[in-house]
Amino acid sequence: MHLIVALLSLLALPFAAAWTRNVTVGANGQLVFNPPNITAEVGDTIVFIFESEHTATQSTYQTPCSPSSGGFNGVSASTSPSTFSVKVNNTNPIWVYCAIPGHCKAGMVFAVNAPTTGDTYESFKQIAAGTGPGVEINPSSAGASPTGSSGGSNAGPDSVPSSANRVVSRASVLVTAFSALIALFV
Ligand SMILES: *[C@@H]1O[C@H](CO)[C@@H](O)[C@H](O)[C@H]1NC(C)=O
Ligand SMILES: *[C@@H]1O[C@H](CO)[C@@H](O)[C@H](O)[C@H]1NC(C)=O
Ligand SMILES: *[C@@H]1O[C@H](CO)[C@@H](O)[C@H](O)[C@H]1NC(C)=O
Repeated sequence: MHLIVALLSLLALPFAAAWTRNVTVGANGQLVFNPPNITAEVGDTIVFIFESEHTATQSTYQTPCSPSSGGFNGVSASTSPSTFSVKVNNTNPIWVYCAIPGHCKAGMVFAVNAPTTGDTYESFKQIAAGTGPGVEINPSSAGASPTGSSGGSNAGPDSVPSSANRVVSRASVLVTAFSALIALFV
């Protein structure tokens, strides 16, 4: 009996480790994803919370403002807030922008697991703005005018699960595993 409880607890381990990451999109009329870049692990789910009319469209590092072939494309619903969820399937960087004309160029870009050197989030954003190493390809930017603030300043996260939360989550997983082991011997 104790053995069964122990085994069941251990089975729950991989599931307990997954994490949901909220990313607000266009809160307070600003052309920003908040937070603008995050680290996530395989199995985590990213929930884009659209506070106004925007998209969360997957692109590539080289062409930040163009949809990548086969990439995801989350679009806000007509009523706000609405959400779009995407799962992290591997540890590769995920590059994202808002496809509404003008928004990407204004800095409305987002990344998951961007490298800390080389192809960083910051240089991705510069390419999007047309000032970085590379050429922006944005077929739809003509005539656009950003509506929010410059997009150059990113507000700090408001309700983001801190890494501390993740640590707590992982710690409780360890406690579960520990109880499982105790159960084996009682
Ligand atoms: C976000 O990008 C900035 C600038 O490139 C970098 O300093 C920071 O470490 C990145 N944060 C994450 C969570 O990747
Ligand atoms: C992960 O896989 C699912 C199912 O195939 C897909 O819908 C989703 O877009 C993928 N996530 C990324 C970041 O590509
Ligand atoms: C994400 O947002 C939803 C509602 O929008 C909230 O219920 C949930 O607690 C948030 N999760 C985290 C980890 O902040």
